[in-house]
Amino acid sequence: MIIRLAPSILSADFVALGAAIAAAERGGADLIHVDVMDGHFVPNITAGPLVVRAARRAASVPLDVHLMITDPDRYIEMFAEAGASMISVHVEVLPHLHRTLGLIRSLGVQAGVALNPSTPAQAISEVVDLLDFVLVMTVNPGFGAQTFIPRTESKIREVRAMLDASGRGVPIEVDGGIDLTTVGRVVAAGAEILVAGNAVFGAPDPTAAARELKSAGVAAATRVPQSPHLR
Ligand code: DX5
Ligand code: ZN
Repeated sequence: MIIRLAPSILSADFVALGAAIAAAERGGADLIHVDVMDGHFVPNITAGPLVVRAARRAASVPLDVHLMITDPDRYIEMFAEAGASMISVHVEVLPHLHRTLGLIRSLGVQAGVALNPSTPAQAISEVVDLLDFVLVMTVNPGFGAQTFIPRTESKIREVRAMLDASGRGVPIEVDGGIDLTTVGRVVAAGAEILVAGNAVFGAPDPTAAARELKSAGVAAATRVPQSPHLR
């Protein structure tokens, strides 16, 4: 397993975004996670391509852009242009998910599908071949600092089994309530990309918090029996 930490700037100080990103990178961040919310799909409004462009200038690691918006097809190109290396879209709003994933990949961006806690793993069974990663939401999207939903652990396992069965060695990302108390469980279930907002940027020392969380994830991974998808 290759554990990657993706601190979410949702909990960062936007006045000093560059410094926040640099602090997370010093702590071992492998990606920077940008949460895009439109006030329709989720009851909150956050950042758009402008912020992605600014984060791109500040970050030296790739940007992982999580689109929590009702009409991602209209904006995917703008986010790719702004500097996203990975884009995830929610299956719940996409009747033509196959086409959307093709669009993301045609722009040279890694494509991921995000699943809300109430969405079954099966929702992605027909598009497995087009996925570069799967984002299993471990809280209901919309806000940072929410409590991890334990039921999602079994979905991580189900998605991992589905990906392994189809020979897709792509990683599972988890998002929401990931901290030192939950990281071991999600990694044991098969998660490799760990999004963390509050646990990193809500901490007094984000660099130390990122370092500690990533080491806990890496340590948990060494205890996971080898899975066939190992790269
Ligand atoms: C939630 C967002 C998350 C959020 C996670 O809707 O998708 O990326 O920042 O925040 P924490 O880690 O604070 O639960
Ligand atoms: Zn997110």
